[in-house]
Amino acid sequence: MKNDIKVQQSVWLNSENPKIVEIIDQRFLPHRLVIEQLESWKDSETAIREMHVRGAPLIGVTAAYGMYLACLEAKDHAKNNSYFSAVATALKASRPTAVNLAWAVDRQLKIINQFKNTDKLIAASLNLAKQISNEEVENCKKIGQHGLTLLQPLIEKKKGQPLNILTHCNAGWLACVKHGTATAPMYAAHQAGIPIHVWVDETRPRNQGARLTAWELSQAGIPHTIIPDNTGGHLMQHGLVDCCIVGSDRTTRTGDVANKIGTYLKALAAHDNDISFYVALPASTFDWEISDGVKEIPIEERNPEEVKYIQGLHEKNIIKVLVSPPESTAVNYGFDVTPSHLVTRLITERGVCQANESSIHELFPEY
Ligand code: MRU
Repeated sequence: MKNDIKVQQSVWLNSENPKIVEIIDQRFLPHRLVIEQLESWKDSETAIREMHVRGAPLIGVTAAYGMYLACLEAKDHAKNNSYFSAVATALKASRPTAVNLAWAVDRQLKIINQFKNTDKLIAASLNLAKQISNEEVENCKKIGQHGLTLLQPLIEKKKGQPLNILTHCNAGWLACVKHGTATAPMYAAHQAGIPIHVWVDETRPRNQGARLTAWELSQAGIPHTIIPDNTGGHLMQHGLVDCCIVGSDRTTRTGDVANKIGTYLKALAAHDNDISFYVALPASTFDWEISDGVKEIPIEERNPEEVKYIQGLHEKNIIKVLVSPPESTAVNYGFDVTPSHLVTRLITERGVCQANESSIHELFPEY
């Protein structure tokens, strides 16, 4: 591991050795910028499962590179289909909710099954991993442009005052490869000289908002304020939120949205206060097979210790402290589902649509 390297994206290939994939180990942000080298598919699986990387698009890209690393390792194994299907199964099981993971692994499996020659297989798998990564970068960029167009009427209403956007979790470039999904319109507005201010939900238990979104926005020079997760409703009642923009881990063909736990409560509060609730996502986050998000989206349940402990910086060391009585029971659902009727619009790389089957189908007729 190396420290303190300036990076602008969350995953890349080592410039000197293409057999190594590099990631930011996000567990240490914002206090330390740690770069981790992934040298085997198992390293990728561990990085996803233990959340060195996280966020739906980034999980997908890391898994795609994981399949490429498995191809490199196939030289040492007798290459056979059961090896690749075992790797694919393990990678897909590393986190259950974000559909981008299975989507990327399945794309790799299709390519892998086409080749007998190991060198050709490695080259094709590397190309595909790079392609998936580049596609997500382009998609996020377009989400930023479409999102900014969507925000124009709200921006005009503010007459030069900052537009107050509330976001939950981290759906920024750390969660993708570059730009982010929910943050892409924010970055686009900021780059266009439009004043914005972001309310950042801290996002307990792992604090992706307080640690990661706040760090990203600080780096970009975007004014923001971290709020406890329970504060959004109060701010909305007092006219301090102009709109909400969040990301998604899995969105059904009918527009139900799974995102970080707590998103649903923000959508309810936004609905009650007549505030637009936007969800930004690339096509890779749609699960075209399902229609009922509450019943059909698998919700990850993580270790309750994440709820009972909190991590932070103490005298230059990153430490964990116990918040609750040690004997108390805790439960740790990672995601919740916001039903489509609470979502004002979806922002995708192909444009903006309503969160319903026909409107989504108009943008993505091939699915
Ligand atoms: O548990 P995490 O940190 O992987 O959860 C991430 C989120 O919920 C993000 O909001 C979502 O993946 C959208 S990422 C652009």
